[in-house]
Amino acid sequence: MKVMVIGGGGREHAIIKKLKESKEITKLYALPGNGGIAEDAVCVNIGATDIAAQVKFAIENKIDYAVVAPDDPLCLGAVDELTKAGIPCFGPDKKAAIIEGSKVFSKNLMKKYNIPTAAYETFTSADDAKAYLENAEYPIVLKADGLALGKGVLICNTLEEAEAGVKEIMEDKKFGSAGNQMVIEEFMTGRDVDELMLDKKFGSAGNTIVIEEFMTGREVSVLSFVDGNTIKIMSSAQDHKRAKDGDQGLNTGGMGNFSPSPFYTKEVDDFCKKYVYQPTVDAMKAEGRPFKGVIFFGLMLTPKGPRVLEYNARFGDPEAQVVLPRMKNDIIDVFEACIDGTLDKIDLQFEDNACVCVVLASDGYPLSYEKGFEITGMDKFHDDEGYFLFHAGTKFNEEGKVVTNGGRVLGVTALGKDLKEARANAYRATEWVDFANKYMRHDIGKAIDEADV
Ligand code: AMP
Ligand code: GLY
Repeated sequence: MKVMVIGGGGREHAIIKKLKESKEITKLYALPGNGGIAEDAVCVNIGATDIAAQVKFAIENKIDYAVVAPDDPLCLGAVDELTKAGIPCFGPDKKAAIIEGSKVFSKNLMKKYNIPTAAYETFTSADDAKAYLENAEYPIVLKADGLALGKGVLICNTLEEAEAGVKEIMEDKKFGSAGNQMVIEEFMTGRDVDELMLDKKFGSAGNTIVIEEFMTGREVSVLSFVDGNTIKIMSSAQDHKRAKDGDQGLNTGGMGNFSPSPFYTKEVDDFCKKYVYQPTVDAMKAEGRPFKGVIFFGLMLTPKGPRVLEYNARFGDPEAQVVLPRMKNDIIDVFEACIDGTLDKIDLQFEDNACVCVVLASDGYPLSYEKGFEITGMDKFHDDEGYFLFHAGTKFNEEGKVVTNGGRVLGVTALGKDLKEARANAYRATEWVDFANKYMRHDIGKAIDEADV
């Protein structure tokens, strides 16, 4: 079986390493992959959003199965196009990927189907939003709607900050563009982007904004496999989004994480099974958008109980890096069951162990940083010994050496019999690799001590 994976970060590396374990797979391609993925798959220089080229490559190379991992190609319809071309494909179609693509859609879905989330209002006019803010309680959360705008979350402590936030999102359009608005409109109405362009309706359109209640509590990530009807939950994880120790500094894509989360108790699991997971799958089906693929539930464990912070339509990054090494099943069987609608027949199982990932970044991330530094010590990692080096931002230079090529460079990941052992293993392994301007957090997994496990 020939399989291709779209994407080129740490998450895709984790998916590829898991696929490599499958006896059914004879050849693996990554589009575009990266310097480390090249060890495990054939990297093809086709971008993650170049859907036409992906389809062409799949047909020409007689690909048996495709996996679309990142949010952008999912929201742009890569699964739809590959499926249309006769390539079986893992991931939600465009209609279902909107659960991540539009905050307004996902918030409205939760409201309509009584899925617990933060209270919110949506606005399409900056004046209305500002009027609402005058009588709001602080802190308050502002979210820009739209594709790739998921990062557009502002937590505002005062009215002044919130007014400035509305200006950034709706007037300066810092988080969006007319293009994104068109893609969302296309999602909502089924009209073509080309047709919408002719309308010129979006040239000066303001974004939609979600204004949301501020919640407190621990954040837990839960990944799940979904086949349109059935949902199976993977083991939980906990991310560290801020750049610096003690959860200080700017928000990043994730500086490290661990699985399982000791705070994801049976009580939380029972609650979410009843009020969150299956209700979400049923809601998508009822909306005529059956979801097949991975739903990532970003949960906040508030004093009032678990609440959904966000949905993603894909594996998390770096959640995949700590969850997949613990999965016992052959992943291709699970992928196929999701698309064929036979997930109820799969006995999804995880090892009774733990996994910790510490991200090695380029100093200066997430703002500005230098790239192109040679990485040494990579040969010390052996998957079969429970030490994984997932490459996020690396490439080959002209001399064929692997060099840094991004803010997040490597995900140093280790298994252990429990969280403390996995953490010690992961931090030991961070010393094996080196490159100029190497930066990491030193407190990944601090919550493990707080939970006293
Ligand atoms: P999101 O993209 O919606 O997950 O938001 C990114 C981050 O912002 C989350 O991981 C939370 O840390 C924070 N956040 C989002 N919504 C809220 C909320 N309603 N209350 C408190 N923090 C939030
Ligand atoms: N680690 C969070 C995400 O993948 O969105």
